[in-house]
Amino acid sequence: MRRMFRTFRTFRAKLLVAFLGVVVVAEGLTVLALDRALAASLQSQLARRLEDQARGALDWVAQGRHKAVVAGRLAAITATRVTLFDERGAVVGDSASDRVVDVAAVTGSPEIVAARRDGVGRDARFDAQAGDAVLFVAVAASDGVGVRLATPLADVESAVALVRRRLLATSAVVFVLAVVVAMAVARLLARPLSAMRDTAQTIAQAITQGRYEAAVVVDEGAHDELGDLQRSLQSLSSQLSQAEARRREFVGDLSHEIGTPVAAIQGYSETLLHAAVDDATRAEFVGVIHRHAGRITRLVDDLRFLSTEESRPRALRRREPVRVADVARHVKRALQPRTGEAGAHVDVIVADDTVAVGDPDHVERVLLNLVDNAVKYARGGIVVRGRREGDHVVVIVEDDGPGIPPEHLPRLFERFYRVDAGRSRAAGGTGLGLAIVRRLVVDMGGSVDVQSTVGQGTRFVVALPSLDTGSAPAS
Ligand SMILES: Nc1ncnc2c1ncn2[C@@H]1O[C@H](COP(=O)(O)OP(=O)(O)OP(=O)(O)O)[C@@H](O)[C@H]1O
Ligand SMILES: [Mg+2]
Repeated sequence: MRRMFRTFRTFRAKLLVAFLGVVVVAEGLTVLALDRALAASLQSQLARRLEDQARGALDWVAQGRHKAVVAGRLAAITATRVTLFDERGAVVGDSASDRVVDVAAVTGSPEIVAARRDGVGRDARFDAQAGDAVLFVAVAASDGVGVRLATPLADVESAVALVRRRLLATSAVVFVLAVVVAMAVARLLARPLSAMRDTAQTIAQAITQGRYEAAVVVDEGAHDELGDLQRSLQSLSSQLSQAEARRREFVGDLSHEIGTPVAAIQGYSETLLHAAVDDATRAEFVGVIHRHAGRITRLVDDLRFLSTEESRPRALRRREPVRVADVARHVKRALQPRTGEAGAHVDVIVADDTVAVGDPDHVERVLLNLVDNAVKYARGGIVVRGRREGDHVVVIVEDDGPGIPPEHLPRLFERFYRVDAGRSRAAGGTGLGLAIVRRLVVDMGGSVDVQSTVGQGTRFVVALPSLDTGSAPAS
């Protein structure tokens, strides 16, 4: 129980971790992408504004005489650092002139080189003077004279940082929600599993304790794959218990079938042993004992036959052409004494091309059982018919006996099932005849059916696979 519980929790934990892992990765990627996009967009906006301002300043510069003063004024207006350069790219004024140390470095900077080449250039880099990341935008006229504006990127960065903080806060809330949802989903998914675990446990316990009826667990289950699995498990458990119920019924029936003749043998033999009986009575008792012993022998034979047939592998079954007309005539001859005794008559009307495929011994045993039953019940007329019907051979055994009430028909082929138990036993029947018939017919790939009208008679219809017309057997 403990181990089961732990396994179950592990399953839930795995589900939870997987789900939350996906959420965290998705959130992380989203924050990263938004962060990048926002920074890029803000920076290019700033660059465009600086470029516009630089172009305005360039017109102004063209007229100005004292470049250093112009740079200072422009810087005050645009709130940027302003650098002016001449036709050769040399710095001629800088609003931060007191801090410009390396004029060559300014002249050779990427934005100025680009501006003198293309008219406009920009660059963002760490600036040692400003002690910060700085965006430089330079524009130059066709003669090479130009203006460069510079502003720290700190504003852009703080804007991005603000958005990033908001995003992270939102992500945290989403994560908490995801944990709640994931736990609910994991619980939902784990429920049918735990139901299945319970079912399996119940079945296992019931089987260990031999309480098969307790192995039937009924629970609706979910309408998904897990629910299907749960229902399969349940149907398995109910099959188990049904099989067990059938087995018990069989053992009960069998004890009853054997008990009756054994009791008779016991009773008669005790009388013979302990009482003084005359020769005629002795002979009669020995006859009774012999008859009951014979019944036990038949019962054991039939049961052994049934169980061998049930366990015989499919591959080992015989599949040969069987000429039904020959078999029917043979059966009629074999039952002749009994038929005569009963004052009945067997007509065999089987077309010569009625050739089935199967085990000849089995086909004979099937007909023996059916004709034997007919002889037991017929008033006089028994007919065995045989013909081809499509890819089947149909064999019919018909009698004009008392018939069988319809309520008995569904169970007629079960082991030990009898319509009139007393009469069948008195006639020496084991009640296994039709069970054997069905077993053999089904094993040969055929089917057997019964039709009966009370007061008119009974008809057993056996269908067997027929031999291909093209390969008729040599007789
Ligand atoms: N032709 C028939 N007419 C009327 N009832 C029949 C006929 N065939 C079978 N039955 C009924 O079906 C029951 C089952 O038949 P089945 O052949 O299995 O057993 P049985 O004949 O009693 O015993 P066994 O065949 O083992 O000697 C019979 O007991 C009888 O009640
Ligand atoms: Mg029978």
